Parts: sequence; C-alpha cells; structure tokens
Amino acid sequence: MLKKKIFENYKKSADYILEKIKTRPELAIILGTGLENLLDEMENKLEIDYRDVPNFLVSTSNSEGKFIFGKLSGKFVICMTKRFHYYEGYDFDELAMPVYVLKLLGVKNLILTNAAGAVNYNFYPGDICLIRDHINFAGVSPTRGNNLSEFGERFYPIDNLYDKELRRIAKKSALEEGIDLKEGVYFFTVGPFFESPSEIRAIRSLGGDLVGMSTITETLTAGHCGIRVLAFSVATNYSSDRIENMDGSEVEDVAREVSPKLKNLIVKIIGELE
Ligand code: HPA
Repeated sequence: MLKKKIFENYKKSADYILEKIKTRPELAIILGTGLENLLDEMENKLEIDYRDVPNFLVSTSNSEGKFIFGKLSGKFVICMTKRFHYYEGYDFDELAMPVYVLKLLGVKNLILTNAAGAVNYNFYPGDICLIRDHINFAGVSPTRGNNLSEFGERFYPIDNLYDKELRRIAKKSALEEGIDLKEGVYFFTVGPFFESPSEIRAIRSLGGDLVGMSTITETLTAGHCGIRVLAFSVATNYSSDRIENMDGSEVEDVAREVSPKLKNLIVKIIGELE
C-alpha cells in the first residue's frame, strides 16, 4: 500500500513543540554519537521528550531522545539529542519527518554532527571534518512518495546542499580556534554492519573520504524544504581496509574525546551567524 506523507501530521508535531517553547528557533542542531556535551553550553534549557510529541517517531533504543530548546551564543536553538537511523528499521520517508517538523518551527539553519569512518588516507581518528558533499548509492530517498508542496518542489537541486557560505564561516572559525579542520565527501551506507575492505576500496575510488550510516536523510530533507545545512563528521576510526580487526568499539570513546573541541567550534560558528 502506498504510504502518504500528511502535512497536517507534521503541523501537529510542530504546534505541540511551539506551544511549549513559545519562541521560534532559527537554528537546529542534530547531535551524533558521543557529542551530547554541546548541551552543557545552552542556557535556559527546556526539554521535550520525543515520545510526548504527537506523531513523532518512537525511538528504538533504550534511551529516549529529547528536544532541548535554549540559548546558545545568544541565539535561540533547538537541539535533537538523538537521531533516527535507517538501520533501526524506519522507512526512508519516515526519516524525513524530524526535519520537516524543524522547518515548521521556523528553523533556517541546521547543524549536524556524526561519527564516521576515515576512508581518506589523510584522515585520522580524532579529526573533525566538514562535509562538503555526499554520495548516496544506497538507492534510497527520504523525499520519495507524494510531494508536499508546502515544503518544496517535486524535483530539487542538491549541488549546494552543504551550504558554501556556512562552510566558509566554519573554516574561518576553525582557523581562529586553531582547529585543523578537514573537509571531505561523506559516503552513506545503510549499516548496521561496518563495510568490507573491498567496499571501502570502492568507496575511496568513487571519491568518498568518510563513511557513515546517518545524516543524508536529514540533509536531503533539508534541501527539499530550503533549510541551510552545515554538517561535521568526527572521524572515529580507520576504515576497515586500514586496520586489522575493525570492531567499532572506539567509535563512542573517540567521539567523546573530540567533542569539547567540536563544541567550541560550533559555539563560535553560531556566534558568527547573522
Ligand atoms: N563505518 C560506518 N559508520 C561508522 C563508522 C564506519 O567506519 N564509524 C562510525 N560510524
């Protein structure tokens, strides 16, 4: 059966959140693995559990996600503490939903963070990398299905999905903070398994610098509804052809180690935004 996206459902979710937060946030942040400490910097925090928001996706993990609304670098910001992944079993069109709800809240800029494998030989665990572009060869699309013209056109370009101007601000801020910011192409895989060494070699020859299981659902939806995107990967591990016995055990620890640096960078960037 054809599943339809229904605008009113997103509107109900957004109206519930707006009633609680009262002020429209211009900026949203979706936090990846191990990067939650950004929340420590927020002032006047107000929390809303995803499970209390009508029509919102239900988390498949034990720890529930939350929206955290507050002020960061003088701006009203809404953070999502947990994201939803394709490997958890959601359909791709379901994964469009959080970003459409953010759009209805008034969000104009979206900052995303994730943990990723380092495919490029010049990238190392612990590096912070700006995502310049992505490759999605998984044959999946969050905006497949009926088009909601309230959000955007049926067909839409993605050549500036990772906004050039935001990337310029990020690079300038990194320079000022003394952070060696790498920049590369994120290759999406559905997971939840890590990649085979042969897949990694193929990804590298296709132009992928980083590999991961998230983010593109959110960025492609943001592209559809006209939200500007800035996305960071923390390279948490060497890709499977660069090490023996890759098991992913370091992913969370490395992300946590790097997170104070990334937090400072994001706080600085937000301060620089108009
Ligand atoms: N591959 C896919 N996803 C990941 C990786 C990886 O090596 N590291 C963190 N997320």
